[in-house]
Amino acid sequence: MAQADSKKDLHADQDPNKINLGIGAYRDNDGKPWILPVVKKVKQNLLTDPTLNHEYLAIDGLRTFTDASAKMILGADSRAIKEKRFLGVQQISGTGAVLKKGATVYISDPTWGNHFQIFGDAGFTVKTYKYWNPATLYYCLKTADSGSIFVLHACAHNPTGVDPTQEQWKQIAAIIKEKNHFPFFDCAYQGFASGSLDKDAWAVRYFVDAGFEIFVAQSYSKNFGIYSERCGCLTVVTSTEQQAINVRSQLCRLNRASISNPPAYGARIVNAEDNLRTMANRIIKMREETVRHLTDLKTPGNWSHITSQIGMFSYTGLTVAQVKVIKEKFHVYMTDNGRISMAGLNENNVRRFAEAVDYVVRNA
Ligand SMILES: Cc1ncc(COP(=O)(O)O)c(C=O)c1O
Repeated sequence: MAQADSKKDLHADQDPNKINLGIGAYRDNDGKPWILPVVKKVKQNLLTDPTLNHEYLAIDGLRTFTDASAKMILGADSRAIKEKRFLGVQQISGTGAVLKKGATVYISDPTWGNHFQIFGDAGFTVKTYKYWNPATLYYCLKTADSGSIFVLHACAHNPTGVDPTQEQWKQIAAIIKEKNHFPFFDCAYQGFASGSLDKDAWAVRYFVDAGFEIFVAQSYSKNFGIYSERCGCLTVVTSTEQQAINVRSQLCRLNRASISNPPAYGARIVNAEDNLRTMANRIIKMREETVRHLTDLKTPGNWSHITSQIGMFSYTGLTVAQVKVIKEKFHVYMTDNGRISMAGLNENNVRRFAEAVDYVVRNA
């Protein structure tokens, strides 16, 4: 409810200098949506390609796209790919890919709000595991019923911006194996954490190398900036080639019933990675600038988490009361839990943002 009110306030606010840090979508340095140059180029090619038409795709999608998608997350030299123990089925973006059903599903607390609705509506019992303190996370993994599904953010955790270290991932994998849990990776920000697709796939590839069967829900909304094209893929790694064939057939049945046929446009666009670095670097720069201004203003508190957190979001640590004041007095909008989208900051508004934070920290 509070969230909906906040959106209403944002749209009603006539201040030309209002700052929107609530939206989970990339903005350029002028605060404008950005069409990646590679996407522009592919769109032009698509327009003039005489071989393209608007026929239905196969129920599991465009095979060149789903194979490329598996390569992108698993690595081109993945053993699972060589041994044909994988499959990819196109989905309605990351949200659609998350939407697949028995066991209890554990999602992180906090997490992307839609996880509750997606798994709840699909008929799962949804429980949460405490996130970002490794000790409580391990405890939740150990005490959950054996054979539970654990939804793990592959990289750039939303909303905390804190990912496990490689050592912590190894520990998580060891407990998941011991407890016979099933790892379900939600990967909505590959490339956003480090600017490298490969680095951001480290955790997923570690699990595959360790012999796990996994599901990975891949979204191309953010890393290709094609939010409304609803482009995603559910990549599955199985133990055998025959299982991959069987799972593909089951997922085709589910696709047929839920969407009948996947959309082609976004799948045709996803074929390059160069532009990720531009977005990741601008976000990293805004993290540094925010901390530089807060240091300059001698704002009380330790702000190093802003630069140590990664990905699109940052948990500022501001309280609900401070979030209210920053909105009313400074026209700065963020979610009530103090999460900001770093992509909403740019060279023109980062100082004003820091000043607003400085004010609420001292006075609210
Ligand atoms: C953690 C996480 N998973 C999945 C998604 C799905 O996004 P989409 O359905 O646009 O691909 C998002 C979007 O914000 C997200 O933050």
